[in-house]
Amino acid sequence: MLDTTSAIPTYDLPGPRGREIVARETAIVTTGTKTAPVVVKRAQGVLVEDVDGNVFLDFTNGMVAATGHSHPKVAAAIAEQAQQWLFINSPDFYSPLQAEVAERLAALVPGIARKKVFLCNSGAEANEAAIKATRWNKPTRKRLIAFLGAFHGRTMGANALTASKVAQRARFTPNMPDVHHVPYASCYRCPYKMTYPACDVWCARILEEVYFKQLIPPDEVAAIFVEPIQGEGGYIVPPSEFIHIIRDIAQRYGIAYVDDEVQAGIGKTGKMLAIEHHGVTADCTSIGKAVGSGVAVAAQVLDAGLDFGEKGAHSNTFGGNGVALAAVKATLNVIREEHLVERARDMGEYFLERLRGLQERHAAIGDVRGKGLMLAIDFVTDRTSRTPDAELRDRVLERCFVHGLMLLPAGFSALRFTPALIVDREHIDRAVAVLDRAIREA
Ligand SMILES: Cc1ncc(COP(=O)(O)O)c(C=O)c1O
Repeated sequence: MLDTTSAIPTYDLPGPRGREIVARETAIVTTGTKTAPVVVKRAQGVLVEDVDGNVFLDFTNGMVAATGHSHPKVAAAIAEQAQQWLFINSPDFYSPLQAEVAERLAALVPGIARKKVFLCNSGAEANEAAIKATRWNKPTRKRLIAFLGAFHGRTMGANALTASKVAQRARFTPNMPDVHHVPYASCYRCPYKMTYPACDVWCARILEEVYFKQLIPPDEVAAIFVEPIQGEGGYIVPPSEFIHIIRDIAQRYGIAYVDDEVQAGIGKTGKMLAIEHHGVTADCTSIGKAVGSGVAVAAQVLDAGLDFGEKGAHSNTFGGNGVALAAVKATLNVIREEHLVERARDMGEYFLERLRGLQERHAAIGDVRGKGLMLAIDFVTDRTSRTPDAELRDRVLERCFVHGLMLLPAGFSALRFTPALIVDREHIDRAVAVLDRAIREA
């Protein structure tokens, strides 16, 4: 579909056919998070073709379709399973496939001897399960802790944990009560205006030294929700020391540590789970997005001691449906057979180096950050003040689409790059060339 050595195209977006679909969708679909008028006809690997025949390099979809769009082995496994059974009410009945997929998901999570898996349909639902499981098992503890900049989903429980942008919370009050937010280790723009490591990781220590003494009785806290790398908040990689201190505090006060791997998990950071970069373990692990290569599927992997243990306390309808189970099994097989975790690490190093080269040429790029193929560049008005330049970021984003590169924003002034883990150097070179041009034009 795309020759990466061909000249960079300039598309008129949406094209004539696309325009009609954009109008129809705008009239009928609720307002969501639309980023650009790309009207998709088909998608394969790292490429997307729109209804007007324009071809895009997609550097958004590895977040979800980590094995690439419509990986033939994943598509075949889904088709085959659809012939066997689509739905057997998996929460009520049993199947070899459900047993195997639950075992394999549990095996991804390090450090807990006995685990239980709740199969569900979205990252938000996985986090809701962690809220309910920790409250269920710690009946005197109702409070929850999360971080500023966090994104844990949009259902009312998960949304109460989310604190990435005011727009996600405005007008939805009352939120679920007794959720406390503390600043994350966002070192590029430290909320305390300190510098790591001279700060002695105050953003982590403040939880125990200030909050637990003045605001949050620690023996009332059921769980603390932590993204190993903040996703929606701007692809912020905390120092591992931060994660270690928070983990240690949770352990000492009997608080469940919930590792939200919905965005950072399943290989894209160069480790199967991003928490492995930090060398700590969690009591609950939320898995979603990439684990089904694009099929709606998610899971909560718990320490077995946090299982509900009573019939009817928690369940759902579509958790463990045939398509979801087949997609997870095939995705994990493809990741292993094609060495995609190692590939994400290696391609990520190459991509990071290319982005740093771009930063040398463009003063507007204040920060380049990330791990593996979960990378971002952050636009600033000047490198000294590090003031976010959201307008420039948005203009660059628009020019990228016009020149055939699909990207998503993150945080207030960053662009995130999450190509599928099958991406190669030529795709990365092409993406960097488009970015270079887009920044000059913007
Ligand atoms: C870290 C994290 N947790 C949870 C979610 C929510 O997942 P979903 O949109 O599948 O409900 C997201 C979605 O972006 C996420 O990034």
